[in-house]
Amino acid sequence: MSTTHAIEATDLRKRYGDMDALAGIDLEVPAGSVCGLLGPNGAGKTTAVRILTTLATADGGSARVAGFDVAREPMEVRRRIGLAAQDATVDGLLTGRENLVMIGELHHVGRKVARRRAPELLEQFDLTDAGDKLAKDYSGGMRRRLDLAATLVARPDVLFLDEPTTGLDPRARKELWTVLETLVDGGTTLLLTTQYLDEADRLADEIVVVDHGRVIARGDARTLKREVGGDQLELVPVDADDLPRAAEILEAVAGARASVDQAVRRITAPTESGVEALGEVAGELRAAGIEVEDLGLHQPTLEDVFLTLTGSAPDADAGERTEQPEEALR
Ligand SMILES: Nc1ncnc2c1ncn2[C@@H]1O[C@H](COP(=O)(O)OP(=O)(O)OP(=O)(O)O)[C@@H](O)[C@H]1O
Ligand SMILES: [Mg+2]
Repeated sequence: MSTTHAIEATDLRKRYGDMDALAGIDLEVPAGSVCGLLGPNGAGKTTAVRILTTLATADGGSARVAGFDVAREPMEVRRRIGLAAQDATVDGLLTGRENLVMIGELHHVGRKVARRRAPELLEQFDLTDAGDKLAKDYSGGMRRRLDLAATLVARPDVLFLDEPTTGLDPRARKELWTVLETLVDGGTTLLLTTQYLDEADRLADEIVVVDHGRVIARGDARTLKREVGGDQLELVPVDADDLPRAAEILEAVAGARASVDQAVRRITAPTESGVEALGEVAGELRAAGIEVEDLGLHQPTLEDVFLTLTGSAPDADAGERTEQPEEALR
């Protein structure tokens, strides 16, 4: 195994009951790069993060983080990593500043150092004004930023962020992206999990798409888009009642399954024959008397990639779970 990889995992497996949460995944994350673990609810993202951060043990396979084996040298790993778990871990009854100092102490950076780091981090995450307010009174975006600040008290080489922007409004998400980009510019290796394709597209050098505990695709955004091949035909009928018939027409011309987004009346299907298919669809729609609001071709988005790879779009409601307690890192 090469030492230039900040994270390397081979055939990681984890079972819960008779279900494979991880069915053998491989990862190689070069130092200083960003790996985006992209997948829908229940894909196995958190399970992978828990194993890589020594919070859970794998049933099979092995992993090294920051050069140390997560199973055999967990303390060495812990010393070099930061984790912002999926659920915020800051203490609501402490102020932002107190949280940072406490977490610094937990990480054995020393009270003095932690006290010095706290204002720096508050500043870096735009929390200076809120630093002496109780964290329970923070907005979601502020709490997420405090969470992230807390992971940095001990200056980790490798940072794990489990869905860092879930639940944030679009503006808070974009703000957090900027913060993360600054971090990465500073040389931190980042593994982040996300259900947002645009987030992976924006932040990750390599995107690893997971579904049902397996890696179903990997590569940079461009490579993944290329894998889907061809363009996407996109059609918005004026009348929602025309959706089923319009979808049939699109499927017949494209020779591929169409996906229908009822909410915005949009139907899409991949096509190899671009403009020609477009003309054909237009003719068929006219013949069928279907009025069209919008008809066009677009380059595949990561959403399309996901549709093609899994047969379904990332689903925000799937993956209900019964939680089993696991050891906590801090
Ligand atoms: N502690 C646990 N006990 C039992 N089942 C679990 C446990 N942790 C995860 N699972 C199951 O393992 C599978 C993978 O879960 P995991 O939390 O890793 O998914 P995820 O990709 O992080 O999903 P989400 O996007 O919802 O956070 C799911 O089916 C989940 O229900
Ligand atoms: Mg998760």
